[in-house]
Amino acid sequence: MSALVVLGSARGAPGVTTASLLIAGAIQGSLLVEADVAGGVLAARYGLGREPGLTTMAAEPSEEHRWQEHAQSAGGVAVLVGPDAPDAAEALWRGAGLRLGTALTRCDADLVVADLGRLGRRSPLVGAADLILLVARPTIEHLVTLSHHVPRLRDGSRARIGMVLTGRGPYRADEIADALQVEVVGELPDDPAAADALSGARTSGLSRSRLARASIGLADTVARSARVQRTFSSPEVVAP
Ligand SMILES: Nc1ncnc2c1ncn2[C@@H]1O[C@H](COP(=O)(O)OP(=O)(O)OP(=O)(O)O)[C@@H](O)[C@H]1O
Ligand SMILES: [Mg+2]
Repeated sequence: MSALVVLGSARGAPGVTTASLLIAGAIQGSLLVEADVAGGVLAARYGLGREPGLTTMAAEPSEEHRWQEHAQSAGGVAVLVGPDAPDAAEALWRGAGLRLGTALTRCDADLVVADLGRLGRRSPLVGAADLILLVARPTIEHLVTLSHHVPRLRDGSRARIGMVLTGRGPYRADEIADALQVEVVGELPDDPAAADALSGARTSGLSRSRLARASIGLADTVARSARVQRTFSSPEVVAP
C-alpha cells in the first residue's frame, strides 16, 4: 500500500505542478501522477512521449499494475504522464478512475504524489487521498475561492487537509489558517527564476534556489504526514 498525497488549486495557476514536482523530487521512492483533468504538461515540458503513462496503465488488463512499466522520468522523478488534451484526460478518469485509484493506492511506490490541477466536482483521487494539499496564493481572491472547496473536500474524503501558500500577500499564514480552519503545512517563496527553470523556460537556477530550499521543509512535513522516510537532502529534480 502506498500513501497518496494529492495537490490542487481553487483559482489561477498558483504552482500546483511546480510544488508536486518538488515534493516528489525530494522524497525518494515517490511516484508523481499527472491527474489534472485540464490536461498534463510534463510530457511537453520534459520532451517525453505521450506514452507510456496513465493511458497505458489504465489499459493494462491485469489487476497487478506494474507502475514502473508505465512511468517515465521527468528530470529524475518517476512520473505517470496524463493525456495532454482535456477531453482525453477527463474521459480517462471517468472511465478508469476507480481502477487507477485502486492501482495507485495498492502500488509499491513509497509515496504517490498526484497533481490534480484546478479542483472541481470531478477531480479524481480525492476520495482515496491520505493528505490533500490546497495550493494557493495568499490573496483574497484565491483564499475566498479556496474556502468554498474546503467543506466539500471534508465531506468527500477522510484525508487530512492542509494548505501550501505560494508567494506573498497581505495575510500571514496563521491568519489564513485561522480564517479557513485549515493548517498551513508549507510556504513556498515567489522565485520566478527557479520556477521558470522547472517549467523549462530557463536552463538553470533551480538547485540552491530559495524555492528548492523551501520545498525541503514542505517535503519533510509531507513525508512525516505520510509516514515515509525523506532521504534526499535537496530536491533531486532536474530542470528540463
Ligand atoms: N513559487 C513560484 N514562484 C514564482 N513563480 C512560480 C512559482 N511556482 C510556479 N510559478 C510559475 O507560475 C506558473 C504556473 O506554475 P505551475 O504550472 O506550477 O502552476 P499550476 O498551479 O500547476 O497551473 P495550472 O493550473 O495551469 O496547471 C509557471 O510559469 C511557473 O514557473
Ligand atoms: Mg499544473
